[in-house]
Amino acid sequence: MAENLVVSFSTDKKERYEVLLPQIEALVADEKDAVANMSNVVAALRQAMGFFWVGFYVVKENQLVLGPFQGPIACTRINFGKGVCGTSWKEKRTVLVPDVELFPGHIACSSDSKSEIVLPAFKEGEVTLVLDVDSDKLNDFDETDAVYLEKVMRVVEKFI
Ligand code: SME
Repeated sequence: MAENLVVSFSTDKKERYEVLLPQIEALVADEKDAVANMSNVVAALRQAMGFFWVGFYVVKENQLVLGPFQGPIACTRINFGKGVCGTSWKEKRTVLVPDVELFPGHIACSSDSKSEIVLPAFKEGEVTLVLDVDSDKLNDFDETDAVYLEKVMRVVEKFI
């Protein structure tokens, strides 16, 4: 794996993801341990994109359980269908929330979190984990984040 992450300081979010994505692929290519790979994926996302909070919640015994993350401490367990993460799991889709206060049932792990995007990863059609990204700014995520973070999830699916 590469020892250093090359970070684009472009103001264009798409360009930053374009520089990051092949590096994430390379980071996980030769390692099969899921926790090690998830840890590097969230570290790379945080370093390159400057996210306030980014982490995995893994499906275990019918709950989402906190996995590797970067950022302030967070809730450890989320039930099926609850919050943004549980909704993404239940509905098997990316959920983009411009203002968390307007999302019914949002789980506030941090009062600083203002907007959020959650994306599922699948194995044989079932959700095995979700990636949750939180921002301390309102309306901070858009279609570009959804498109590129979904590409990251397709990379994640190769090692889970
Ligand atoms: N806000 C999330 C919970 C996880 S934390 O934000 C890290 C939710 O509503 O599912």
